[in-house]
Amino acid sequence: MLHTLRARPRPTRPFRAQAPHHITKGFQTIPASSNVAGYVATASTIAAIGVWWLFTTPDPVPHLESRPSQQLVIEFDPSKAEVTRMLSQESYSVIAKNIAGVERYDGARLASNSPCEDRFTHGLISPWRDRSPWLALALFDGHAGWQTADFLEQKLLTSVQHSLSQIKPPSNGEVTSEQTVHSVIKKAFVDLDGSIIKTAEDASESSLPLQEKLRIFAPAFAGSCALLSLYDPITSRLHVACVGDSRAVLGRKSLDGKWEAIPLSADQTGNNTAEVARLNAEHPGEEGLAQDGRVLGLVVSRAFGDGRWKWPSDVTKDFSRRFCGPGALPPKYHIQTPPYITAEPVVTTTTINPDRPSFLILATDGMWDRMSSQDAVNLVAAWLDARSPGSVMQYRKSKPSPYAPFDFGDFRKGVSPGFMKERMIIQDDNAAVHLMRNCLGGNHSELIAGRLALTPRIPGTGEMI
Ligand SMILES: *[C@@H]1O[C@H](CO)[C@@H](O)[C@H](O)[C@H]1NC(C)=O
Ligand SMILES: *[C@@H]1O[C@H](CO)[C@@H](O)[C@H](O)[C@H]1NC(C)=O
Repeated sequence: MLHTLRARPRPTRPFRAQAPHHITKGFQTIPASSNVAGYVATASTIAAIGVWWLFTTPDPVPHLESRPSQQLVIEFDPSKAEVTRMLSQESYSVIAKNIAGVERYDGARLASNSPCEDRFTHGLISPWRDRSPWLALALFDGHAGWQTADFLEQKLLTSVQHSLSQIKPPSNGEVTSEQTVHSVIKKAFVDLDGSIIKTAEDASESSLPLQEKLRIFAPAFAGSCALLSLYDPITSRLHVACVGDSRAVLGRKSLDGKWEAIPLSADQTGNNTAEVARLNAEHPGEEGLAQDGRVLGLVVSRAFGDGRWKWPSDVTKDFSRRFCGPGALPPKYHIQTPPYITAEPVVTTTTINPDRPSFLILATDGMWDRMSSQDAVNLVAAWLDARSPGSVMQYRKSKPSPYAPFDFGDFRKGVSPGFMKERMIIQDDNAAVHLMRNCLGGNHSELIAGRLALTPRIPGTGEMI
């Protein structure tokens, strides 16, 4: 899944874009420079845990019911138009009319398995009455099922909004401290995860019918990452809360015209040394908690749900014995002092400088596994340039492919499966689709069509594709 979001220039003021000037933080909207191209947030959720690369047709059951024949056709002969249709199928663009400083946002989603385990949500939240709302965009990359991500899609923004509303509203000229904002966001995440875990425990002891219990357990048995961005138009502050390995990257134009890529979150996996140090400190004397980039077998070191890494081992065993639930962790892992996985996010705050064109990209590991932060920023920057007044979008006419006939074995022979500058193409109106197309093969039509055609996944092929 990919979303893209872009900001709208504010009413132009008669000052020069380069003129340095101070911005009053705190209570008034900040004038945008005349050339603020936008604040683009692009989010992508492509692969799910354990599935390296499979992009199948994304699809929630209702779609399948309504369009069965179409699904069959596109699986076997994705022409270029079909590729575009598949990439764009779950894309959207929103013109942000009510948010000063934000022009637009785009999103797209392409599932790596079916049913899709990823969810997203976007919209305005109002922490305080009579104050400008904040723009919220969030991605939930689910694993071992879609239920945790689905729960977060429904509940996370309301929980965060409620938590923020408990802070004293800042009066004119005041700015709520970063620390306060961070701690209430953390609390909202941790409390919501606590309710997922506790609800399942309570249900297991209840007298509800079995099928009802199982439905209630689902968000605690499955798991999900969460990446939330909140933009406050009054202070121009962008808060990013990250649980798991989705990543937020700010693209910002520097004075020399180059685009900088500024990561606003750090992937929380067993490869993250700060995360491993934290775990070791929390579980002194336990060896080998993180191995091969994983934490007790789980890729991420923080997640919602995943009760198996959180419950005391007797609770997990009880679930497993009575409900064929999450099961114990493989014997090589000793569950001595759970919880090992937390849903407490790492939160960052960045003040957006309205004098610098900037945009935000949010994407799941499905995209970041195939593209660096800087490549993604360069791609969106190129997309913005192609759309700026005076430049004509170049739609390439079909021409004979210069690429040799392709099959997946070519990955072993050196054809790169990730983004390649040499294959870059700008043809999509949606910035998220643009990123997705370029991380899947760009203008190498046979490569990208082949990937999209592999539906359903052929066992044993996912790793290379
Ligand atoms: C950890 O890093 C290694 C080496 O860079 C890489 O092969 C592996 O996929 C990474 N694992 C995760 C979970 O990110
Ligand atoms: C693919 O893109 C590259 C770089 O943009 C370009 O040089 C090449 O001609 C393109 N190939 C096709 C088949 O469009």
